[in-house]
This record gives sequence, structure tokens and C-alpha cells, in this order.
Amino acid sequence: MLESSSVLLFIVFLLLFILLLFVVLIRRNVTASLLWNEIIREKITNFIMNQSKEERILNFVLQNAVRGDPCSVLEAIDKYCSQKEWSMNVGSEKGLILDKVVEEVSPSVALELGTYCGYSGVRIARLLKAGARLLTVEFNPAFAAVAKQVFEFAGVQDKVKLIEGPSDEIIPQLKKKYEVDTVDFVFLDHWKDRYKPDTILLQECNLLRKGSVLLADNVIIPGAPEFLNYVRNNSHFQCTNYPAHLEYMKASDAMEKAVFLG
Ligand SMILES: C[S@@+](CC[C@H](N)C(=O)[O-])C[C@H]1O[C@@H](n2cnc3c(N)ncnc32)[C@H](O)[C@@H]1O
Repeated sequence: MLESSSVLLFIVFLLLFILLLFVVLIRRNVTASLLWNEIIREKITNFIMNQSKEERILNFVLQNAVRGDPCSVLEAIDKYCSQKEWSMNVGSEKGLILDKVVEEVSPSVALELGTYCGYSGVRIARLLKAGARLLTVEFNPAFAAVAKQVFEFAGVQDKVKLIEGPSDEIIPQLKKKYEVDTVDFVFLDHWKDRYKPDTILLQECNLLRKGSVLLADNVIIPGAPEFLNYVRNNSHFQCTNYPAHLEYMKASDAMEKAVFLG
């Protein structure tokens, strides 16, 4: 009897120890934290609430932001994702770098690869001059549906063309189907292994002009080494690195600006 109760006690302590170890790991290690937030916690919450995280972000925007006020939409998304559920928007810190580059370039035609919920799309669109437009590409229909509502609520829908489909299929269609001559600014923020091939595709499709600016997010986490290697060792590009932190976290990340020299 005594022996079986001490075995039980041992198992309880062992489980508590593993739990403690897990909590410490989540707090200190960015990969463990992302794994916990993006996979385990998110799936459990989705199951309990019968709703996706992106729908919860949208609901928070609808309830807390002001219709027609893009800044209030950005604030609401940042608040939700820093306090409630981590999410892969560019975020407020790197968002300021994005703002600065967009303001410098003052694009007539901007292209975004990776729309997600429309956070960076709203950031870019709110800075566009009259008559300028943003084309943003997203291959996940559920994310695109959320982004569409976010753009409408923020009041930037007239400046934004949301294109559903994979970037490697959409880029070759830009000239004919979307009447793009060249793009002035490209925000690369889709899956990181597509940064390099899509940059080459933009060049092959003659969509870059002398002075076109590419800005790539997450070049440290998750990282885009092939893209960095390509643009940094290429006489057609002039690069600048902007160190920052991963959205809503303390881990180091960076953005890379690559100006096409023609
Ligand atoms: C990091 S999120 C974009 C975040 C968004 N730019 C923001 O800051 O608010 C990446 C998005 O790219 C989309 N995506 C990934 N690869 C893609 C591809 N090849 N074509 C189109 N969309 C893609 C994903 O579905 C996801 O929604």
C-alpha cells in the first residue's frame, strides 16, 4: 500500500517537474514559444471556440477599432496579438520600419506577398498617395476572407487589390491581368523559401525598374538565408539591414531592404 502511494507521489512530482520545465522553455525559447502558441494553444482554443484565431482577431478589430480609422485597426490587432494570442503580423516595431521605407519610396504601385489578416496591408495602404494602389497576394482563402473585411473596416479597400493565389502563379499574371507595368515597392512577407525564387521571378517578368525597392521581413526568424545570399551578392541590388525584434516577442529579427539598381 505504502509502496504504491509513493510511486503515485513520484509520478505526480515528475509530471509537475515536466510541466515546470515546459513553462520555463516556453518563456525562454522562441521556438518552443511559437510551437506552444501557434500549434498547441491555438488548436485547443479553435476547438473550444469553434472559430479560427484569424476570426478572433477580426472580431476584436470589429469590437475595438473605429470604422474608417486605419490606425485604430492596427492598434487593435497589435493589442490582441501582444496580449491574447501571438500572430504573424509584421507588428508595431518592424511596422515602423515598413512605414519609413514606404514613405521614402512613395510608391504608385506597391506589391505585398503574404497578406494574412491584412495588418501590413493596412499599414502600407494608409500611407499611399492619391491614385496609388497596393496589390496583395494571399493563397489561403480563409486568411484572404478575414483580410478583405479588415481592409473594408479600415476604409482602405479602394486602394487595395487582394489577389487570391500562390505568388508564383500570380506574379507572371501581374502585367496583363492586373495592368502592372513595374512595381515601385515590394513587401516580401510570405513563406521564407519563396523570397529568393519570387525575387528572380519578378526580375524575369520585368516587373522591377531601376530604383524598385524590396523589403523582406523575418530574415532572421524564421530566416531567409538563400534570399539574403542572393541579393547581398548581386550587383543588381544594394542592400540595407534593419535589426529589430520578432513581432510581439523579445527575440532578435531583422528586415532587409534591397534596392534594384537595374
Ligand atoms: C507572415 S504572414 C503575412 C503577414 C502580413 N504581411 C502582415 O504583416 O500582416 C505570411 C502569409 O503568407 C501567405 N503565403 C505564404 N506563402 C505564400 C505564397 N507562396 N503565395 C501566397 N501567399 C502565401 C500565408 O498564407 C500567410 O498568410
